[in-house]
Amino acid sequence: MCGIVGYIGYRDSVPVLIEGLKRLEYRGYDSAGVGLIVDSKSIIVKDKGKVSNLEKLLDEKGLKSNIGIGHTRWATHGEPNVMNAHPHSNEDGTIFLIHNGIIENFNTIKMSLLKQGIKFQSDTDTEVIVHLIDSFIKKGNSLFKAVRLALSEVEGTYGLAVISSNEPDKIIAARKGSPLVVGIGNGENFIASDVSALIAYTKQIVYLDDGEIAEITCDSFKAKTIIGDDIKKEVIEVTMSLEELDRGGYDTFMLKEIMEQPESVLNSIRGRLVFEEGTAKLGGLENVFDKLADTKRIILTACGTSWHSGLVAEYMFEQYLRIPTEVEYASEFRYRNPIINNDDAIIFISQSGETADTLAAMREAKRKRALCLGVCNVVGSSIARESDSGVYIHAGPEIGVASTKAFTSQLCVFALMTLLLARKRDMSLVDGQKIVTEFQQLPDKIRKILTLTSEIEKIAEVFKDAPNFLYLGRGYNFPVALEGALKLKEISYIHAEGYPAAEMKHGPIALVDENMPVVFIAPSDSTYDKIMSNIQEIKARKGKIIAIASEHDTVIDTIADYSIKIPDTIRMLTPILSVIPLQLLAYYIAVKKGLNVDQPRNLAKSVTVE
Ligand code: AGP
Ligand code: GLU
Repeated sequence: MCGIVGYIGYRDSVPVLIEGLKRLEYRGYDSAGVGLIVDSKSIIVKDKGKVSNLEKLLDEKGLKSNIGIGHTRWATHGEPNVMNAHPHSNEDGTIFLIHNGIIENFNTIKMSLLKQGIKFQSDTDTEVIVHLIDSFIKKGNSLFKAVRLALSEVEGTYGLAVISSNEPDKIIAARKGSPLVVGIGNGENFIASDVSALIAYTKQIVYLDDGEIAEITCDSFKAKTIIGDDIKKEVIEVTMSLEELDRGGYDTFMLKEIMEQPESVLNSIRGRLVFEEGTAKLGGLENVFDKLADTKRIILTACGTSWHSGLVAEYMFEQYLRIPTEVEYASEFRYRNPIINNDDAIIFISQSGETADTLAAMREAKRKRALCLGVCNVVGSSIARESDSGVYIHAGPEIGVASTKAFTSQLCVFALMTLLLARKRDMSLVDGQKIVTEFQQLPDKIRKILTLTSEIEKIAEVFKDAPNFLYLGRGYNFPVALEGALKLKEISYIHAEGYPAAEMKHGPIALVDENMPVVFIAPSDSTYDKIMSNIQEIKARKGKIIAIASEHDTVIDTIADYSIKIPDTIRMLTPILSVIPLQLLAYYIAVKKGLNVDQPRNLAKSVTVE
């Protein structure tokens, strides 16, 4: 589920692997290792903890090699310790393997290998693959064929890479359910689980698909399916730049990503608004537009923050399109044999485009012949490629584990989709043009909110030691309450709950006393009076009130302990503004607690295991 990098060519592979692994650090991991071939001998160096520990070890040893593979592990089977870190090797230490994913039938394979007298060195599921490969090599197969045959026996998910000191001129890589790309260079080639690890060296990328295996040498690349058919792969030039992957002067990626939302939102809407016609255009939907316009039901499926953006989309679609809309966790959707009709449209939302639950839900829906649309950020990701059609959110690379700019860009795309479809239905030109104008003002309004950082930082200082938080909102801002609470939990480890504001009195109000900070998202819209009553109810119980309110609202200042003011916009677009103070509040609380906001404990950026 974590990171893979591999290099073969004229350079020393060690710095290439370390730099690549550092680029993948944002994904969250617990140990790191490399496998090299030095003077025809295979050498493994691995350690618990950060890539910088591994880097130190490698420096001390002064190793150099023209071929190597590197891994960051996010433990699924076996403790995160040195023994379980990857690479894993066969008994005589000639073959090395790194693996992302889970081997589901590892127990059965392990039993049979143990019976043959094979000794295991780790508790991982991964290790069975390398012994299986070894057993096929002992039967006279080449490394490529042995990997292919071994993989025909394993069930589960993998992105993996293998090298052998007996065939030191090649890296074998394969993928099923966990991403893997090949980077094509000049006299050198690369592999990685994520394009960002390679962008410093090449932009020529081959995306392996599920069930494919590749052999790369320093000047060649060939691919087959796991069952042995030859395949031709297309080389794609990616547009990502190195600057986009750097912190750009900010202390953390998360702060950079929060602060760049005026630009990321602009990038999401750029070229997609048509003022004269009061509508939007989304090239990715053109070929399915008629089907989408006639759809009788929309289902949105995702996990985490992307699921929250689906909840906002539900309000948008039902308000403007009057199409019944459901939102479901991808993990639940895939396992409950969902009822899917021919005229349903199912939207799969994923920043990474690789989330295992969302991808599996999409495959299930495709099997049932639903129209499957992807809303992704990562270009060329699995969901983007396998969906029938879709829209990229164009937020740019999101490195911080806690999603921020991807959320606001997802909301932009759903609002654009709403405008496009509503104008085909019953929205007037004038109403459409009003929405276009509101869209165009978003970047400036976000800029204004971002000037409030020191005010928000002061509130963070007051509440940084609170053990619990409540987040309350109504209508469009109920999902924002959930998202605000998730941000706080993820990076500050403070327990936080989001609720629809009115639901509070059906239970959570029992938690409220003078120590409970309650964040209200209370812009001046049609739910304002109701939410003001909810604020009073909390106040009566001495809860501490932090309100996100409209900039002209002075009444709120007389009731709330702290208020953060945001510019007005139409209801549909309000969450794009109201979430930003919540991102900043979570951020500053976590920073004041001295926590690593970019790589919070136990979390991974893209969850490619179930
Ligand atoms: C967001 O802050 C989280 N880290 C997480 O909930 C995330 O949104 C979820 O894992 C889905 O990821 P995806 O959008 O890449 O599919
Ligand atoms: N399942 C493997 C392990 O626990 C791989 C984990 C990963 O994807 O990093 O070692």
